[in-house]
Formats: sequence, structure tokens, C-alpha cells
Amino acid sequence: MMSDPIEYLMDVWPLSTGTEDHLTSHHLLLRDRVRNEAFQEAIRRVVRPGDLALDVGAGTGILSAFAIQAGAQHVYLVESEDILSCAQEIFKHAGWLDRATFIRGMADRVTFQGGKVDAILIELIGNFGIDENILSVLPTVRNKALKKGGKIVPAGLRLFVVPIVEESLEREFGVYRSVLYGIDFSPLARLADNNIYLLNFRNARRLAEPQLLAEFDFLTCESDTIESRVNFSITEQGRMIGLAGWFEIDLCEGISLSNPPNENRTHWDQIIFPIGEAQAVEKGDRVSFRFRYNTTAGEDQWAWSGVIHTRGGIRRFDFCNADRFLLPKVRTRHTVELKTKN
Ligand SMILES: C[S@@+](CC[C@H](N)C(=O)[O-])C[C@H]1O[C@@H](n2cnc3c(N)ncnc32)[C@H](O)[C@@H]1O
Repeated sequence: MMSDPIEYLMDVWPLSTGTEDHLTSHHLLLRDRVRNEAFQEAIRRVVRPGDLALDVGAGTGILSAFAIQAGAQHVYLVESEDILSCAQEIFKHAGWLDRATFIRGMADRVTFQGGKVDAILIELIGNFGIDENILSVLPTVRNKALKKGGKIVPAGLRLFVVPIVEESLEREFGVYRSVLYGIDFSPLARLADNNIYLLNFRNARRLAEPQLLAEFDFLTCESDTIESRVNFSITEQGRMIGLAGWFEIDLCEGISLSNPPNENRTHWDQIIFPIGEAQAVEKGDRVSFRFRYNTTAGEDQWAWSGVIHTRGGIRRFDFCNADRFLLPKVRTRHTVELKTKN
């Protein structure tokens, strides 16, 4: 029997049977030792014996289990997906069922009655921090369920961006600007650039000092929109392919987690905001970047634009993820009249 299974993990995944297959994504979380040990220590410091804790997006229940280990009297696990049944199995096996309540549903739509909790545990943290909807879910839940003076793990979030060079990514993006197999794929370039890409950067080169794009204190934040501008002074020569984005979360005082490019200590990747065709830049050039984010239309809308000032002139870019589809998302049954061969 292996003493430490995490040391032996291979890239092996269940054959996906569709969106019901939630163990796949939670497997990735369970093997992320850096994330899990940081949360375990933060929860040990924040949750006091006898506390009530609310776990938002509980998944396998790992954060609630940490709260029980810290001495919580009772934990409330809210989870929208069937993975909650796995949490229930783990709690049953540990003999903790009388200290836990399992709620299957969207946390922001749950009505909380009676008292309030001492701590909220929430790991709706996407690769760019905001992309699992934490900005809309957390304030709603916090305002309904957290007692005055209560704590949230994590307590805050910061988002960073920086212009980068990444040669293999430039080649990848080149697919949509190329003639392949005798077919010109360049009509897809604009569509491709309206996407934000997820990537595990290993060889990205920063062209400037990273800038703080946005910052949230989870005890007080209310808005689920971002409107931000940052400016970069280019410090190195290179072919700018886009801006890499990552996050930093403060789990509690003295414990934070981050996923900057090339470090890859956690399961989180980074994101890339494309700028269209790569742009050669030199030391002293300037890049301004504007980012707008909202969830009001029911779906996240991400818009990013900017201006690159080089000695050769000015280049603008302007993209939005809402424009990444050509066809409306409708599915109808069709009848097709086939031609008869001459
Ligand atoms: C990144 S996972 C974290 C799971 C677990 N807390 C952990 O740390 O391993 C986020 C979980 O939140 C759930 N989720 C997302 N939005 C939710 C919502 N609005 N209400 C309840 N659960 C949600 C997802 O189904 C997923 O299981």
C-alpha cells in the first residue's frame, strides 16, 4: 500500500460520460496538494471550536471536512451538482453525519432561516479567479447567511495581467491565419481572437511589470462587474501575443495562493487575452489595456481592448467573448431536400 498516493499520481481520468461525470474535475482538485494544504491551514486558523460553517460549492466536502477537523460544531454543505452525494459518503464513513447538513442546489438561491454562520468557505475560484462566478454568488450568500464579524475563506482576490511573448502559442494562434490542406482558415481569425484561452504557461516571457487589474474584499464587495484600465511600459523586446492573466487569493492573514505563468504549483492554469496578430514591441513602447466584465446577461461577458504604442505607430485591439459564435445557439429539426444526381 502506498503511503502517499499524491506522490504517485498519473494523468489518468475516468472516461467521461458527459456533464454528469463530476469526479473528473474533483480528482484534479483533490490531488492539488498546494491548494489543499493552504486551505486546511487557513481553515484551522479561522474556524473556532463550536463554530457554524457554510461551504458554498462544497464538491467532495473537503473544505467542510477541514472545518470539522478545526472543531466546527456544524457544517452546511451547499452544492449544485451530484458530487454532493460523494461528500455525503465521505462524511458518513468518517462518522460526521450528525454534524453536517447537505443541501443540493444553487447556493445563491437557498433561503437561510434562523441564525447565521461564523464562517463561509468558498472555492469558486476559476483560472482567472472570477470565472466560476464568485462575484455574483458570494455577496448574495454572505448577505443572507454570515453573522456580523464572521469570516470568509478566502478573504479576498486580486487579478493580474501582463503582456507576454510565447512562441508556441503564436504558432497555435497562427492556425486561424493560415492556409492548411489548401484551405484558407483566415475567416476564423476574428472568431478565434474573441475567445479567452486557458493555458498552462511554461515558457512565457513577460514584456513588462505585471499590473493589478482588479481587487476584491469578499467581506464587503457587492458588484459583479469590473471596469478597469491598466498601462504597461514595455521593458523587453519581443513579439507580444497577448496578455496573460492570473489571480491571487488571500485565504487568511499570512496565507495566500496564486497561479502566475511558468510557476505551475497548483492545478490552476492561466488565461490569455489575445490581441489578434502578434505585435513586435521594444523597450520603451507602451501598452494600455481595458477590461470589462459583467454577468448581468445571465452569461459572463468579457470584453478586452487596448492600444499598443510602438515607434512604428499605433495598433488597436478590441475583442469580446460574446462575439465568438457565428450562429445563434438554437437547435431545430431540419428537413433537407437532397438533389438527384444528373
Ligand atoms: C472548484 S469546485 C470546489 C469544490 C470544493 N469546495 C473543493 O474545494 O474541492 C466548485 C464547486 O462549486 C459548485 N458550484 C458552482 N456554483 C455553485 C452555486 N452557485 N451553488 C452551489 N454550488 C455551486 C460546482 O458544482 C463545484 O462542485
